[in-house]
Amino acid sequence: MKGLAIIGCGAIGGIIAKAVDEGLVEAELRYLLDADRSKAERLAASLHRQKPRVASGIAEVAGDPRVSIVVEAASQEAVVQYAERLLEAGKELVVLSVGALLKPEVKPLLDKHWSRIHVPSGALAGLDAVKAMALIGVDRVELTTRKHPSKLADTPYVKSRGLDLSRLEKPLVVFEGTAAEAVEAFPRSLNVAAALALASNAPVYVKVVADPSAERNIHEVTVYSEASTLFLRVENVPHPDNPRTSYLAALSVVSLLRDLCMRKAS
Ligand SMILES: NC(=O)c1ccc[n+]([C@@H]2O[C@H](COP(=O)([O-])OP(=O)(O)OC[C@H]3O[C@@H](n4cnc5c(N)ncnc54)[C@H](O)[C@@H]3O)[C@@H](O)[C@H]2O)c1
Repeated sequence: MKGLAIIGCGAIGGIIAKAVDEGLVEAELRYLLDADRSKAERLAASLHRQKPRVASGIAEVAGDPRVSIVVEAASQEAVVQYAERLLEAGKELVVLSVGALLKPEVKPLLDKHWSRIHVPSGALAGLDAVKAMALIGVDRVELTTRKHPSKLADTPYVKSRGLDLSRLEKPLVVFEGTAAEAVEAFPRSLNVAAALALASNAPVYVKVVADPSAERNIHEVTVYSEASTLFLRVENVPHPDNPRTSYLAALSVVSLLRDLCMRKAS
């Protein structure tokens, strides 16, 4: 059985740990690591079947040969801090803070270890088609993300611009830019832009719209290539256990882990 470690014991890390604990993912959860140790301890104590250790630091996880897969569910900073150490130790790395993979300082890691870096489809679908189109070159990708203004009001980007979204009566475009700019402006919520950039290897033009009529988080994507034009719209429902995470994104991580854990060790 594959050995697993989770870095980041917040909303999504907790959902993943629970899925492993319930046997949805066939793996042995060996470590939990969090900058806030008490969060890792609380999560470990809440599990019924799995008995992970709370890691004292990344060296413990990287140095344990029984760990083959590490899930980063923490932050872009965590990817920058830990990815190299884990990949150099031969681990498979599932990256949830996908925006980090667009950072120039992370690029050498992608070039060297791409086959062991795994990006879940997250709150999107259709990345398989985007990757296929990239074989002959994608011309352009457009992403429009619509959220209720209340879900954007607390983001550092909206706050730093002094935008008051509380009385919006019609949709307002609050951000326009590239994928790299989008994940810097919204580091927690625009992983989809980074996933599209990585899958398409093409420019991604991102719009974020505060829409008072949006009851769900909506992603609309158009991908242009010589092979086809792809139109995609996903309306995401919050996870029943944790409304800060989209249900589909959580399921996509669990599904990816199920696949990885079924693969034979090489
Ligand atoms: N790709 C996807 O589908 C997807 C889905 C959900 C969340 N995410 C991403 O996953 C990350 C976590 O999301 P969340 O909602 O669980 O956040 P959260 O705030 O609930 O939990 C994050 C946890 O990670 C810990 N942490 C942060 N930086 C750390 C570091 N450098 N080292 C160790 N621990 C660290 C925090 O203490 C916290 O406990 C975010 O970057 C989010 O954007 C991606």
